[in-house]
Amino acid sequence: MSGILDKLLSDKEGSASRNFLLSALWWSLWGMGAGLFASMEFVNPDLVHNVPQLSMPHLRMWHVNAVAVGWLSMAYVGSIFHMVPTLCKNKLHSEKLGNFTMWAWNGVMVAAFCTLLNGNTEGREYAELGALLDVLVVVALCLLTYNIWMTIVNRKVQKLYVSLWYFLGSLFWFPLVWIIGQRTFVSLPGLNDAIIGWFYGHNILGMWFTTVGVGLMYYLLPRLTKAPLYSHGLSMLGFWGIALFYAPTGTHHITQSPVPEWLKAIAIISSIFLLVPVLTVLTNFFMTMKGRWHMPVNDMALRFAVTSCFFYLLTCLQGPFQATRWVNWYLHFTQWVVGHAHAALLGTFSFIVTASIYYALPRLVGFEKWHSEGLIRLHYWFKLIGFIIFYFALTVAGLVQSAGWAMGYPVDQWSNTLTPYWFTRSIGGLLIVTGQCLFAYNVFRTIYTSRKANVKAKTREVKV
Ligand code: HEM
Repeated sequence: MSGILDKLLSDKEGSASRNFLLSALWWSLWGMGAGLFASMEFVNPDLVHNVPQLSMPHLRMWHVNAVAVGWLSMAYVGSIFHMVPTLCKNKLHSEKLGNFTMWAWNGVMVAAFCTLLNGNTEGREYAELGALLDVLVVVALCLLTYNIWMTIVNRKVQKLYVSLWYFLGSLFWFPLVWIIGQRTFVSLPGLNDAIIGWFYGHNILGMWFTTVGVGLMYYLLPRLTKAPLYSHGLSMLGFWGIALFYAPTGTHHITQSPVPEWLKAIAIISSIFLLVPVLTVLTNFFMTMKGRWHMPVNDMALRFAVTSCFFYLLTCLQGPFQATRWVNWYLHFTQWVVGHAHAALLGTFSFIVTASIYYALPRLVGFEKWHSEGLIRLHYWFKLIGFIIFYFALTVAGLVQSAGWAMGYPVDQWSNTLTPYWFTRSIGGLLIVTGQCLFAYNVFRTIYTSRKANVKAKTREVKV
């Protein structure tokens, strides 16, 4: 019994990070697969009969939670568990606690799969999980924060590298945003509920996905290029800029609703001011890359990271643009917004965590070569081309829809014209999901091959 417990809660160095990364990969297949299936139901609404678990609303809830809480967040935690000890030049405070957190997080994902597909939900966008699961996530986040905090407190270097600032900030903000946003803990009536809902909806992006994602970029770019960061001062400016301007932006999602005008104004102005930290962060990245633009040709982890920076630029130029009143009035309630959401989470942050996994896994599992370099290249192209097709299909569909709304045509006159765009989105989705399957296969084969090689080497040692 204690043997099993020791294996489940291993204290081997790097095991918590590795287990989080592998779990993330596992949930990504389920989450993206569900997204693909849901996208096919847009094209053919009669695809499934009498199986409510596979209906679009159920699939959508599962898709969003699986990719956001399962794929991206678990890959983030796995990366943090690897990067923080490296930057602090010590070990993770407790691998056992890290592995316990990993099991708790996986438990939440299994329960989310069963409940969300079954339609058991609190019925609020991005906050669909039931009350018990909300509490479990808070517990997991507290354990995670404690583990990272203690690792940083006991560090062997004095200076805090900028990635640590971003990770510490995220681990302070994310639990708060989660507790406020899951109205299990804080509940307000009427329109206030929508305001809180979008405070949460946007800040889970701004104070978790963005801040950890940018922290990963700050870690990976200098390491992969073996070049010093262009400017530490600029990186601090970016950090405090994000901390200052992100929090009040959420209301830009509901500017077409009767929330107070002053709140809308603050949200729109802060959204535009966000350009300042974004441009400082990107200037820092692109200047670090100066003279090294040839490197992503051969280094695939770097290629994923640099591509992520370009999508970050795209997302962050688009965001303030569509937050302005008239543009927002025109584009709201259209597929354009879904395209934008995917530019952030699938384009920017999914690319950066993929870079992080390609970088960290060999160091954690102890292998030097991937099973297939060709599969990594294929993965990159499938993901990139798939995403571009996906994004443009939804962006154009959004413009068609906006024109329909703006000219006051009845919905049934233009809604059918969207089918070809949705079909194209499914083609893009199919490429992305195929790329992710190749990724998972490559990871599996590499770990399996390196294990076999280790066993052989050990047997040889014993014989000698
Ligand atoms: C890392 C990968 C992905 C992430 C992080 C992600 C994230 C999201 C998010 C946040 C939403 C809600 C969008 C909104 O309400 O505006 C969403 C919706 C959706 N996603 Fe994804 N997604 C990913 C991959 C995919 C893939 C590969 C497909 C396949 C086609 C897909 C299809 C969909 C569909 C059909 C919806 C519902 C859109 C709607 O309600 O109109 N997603 N996804």
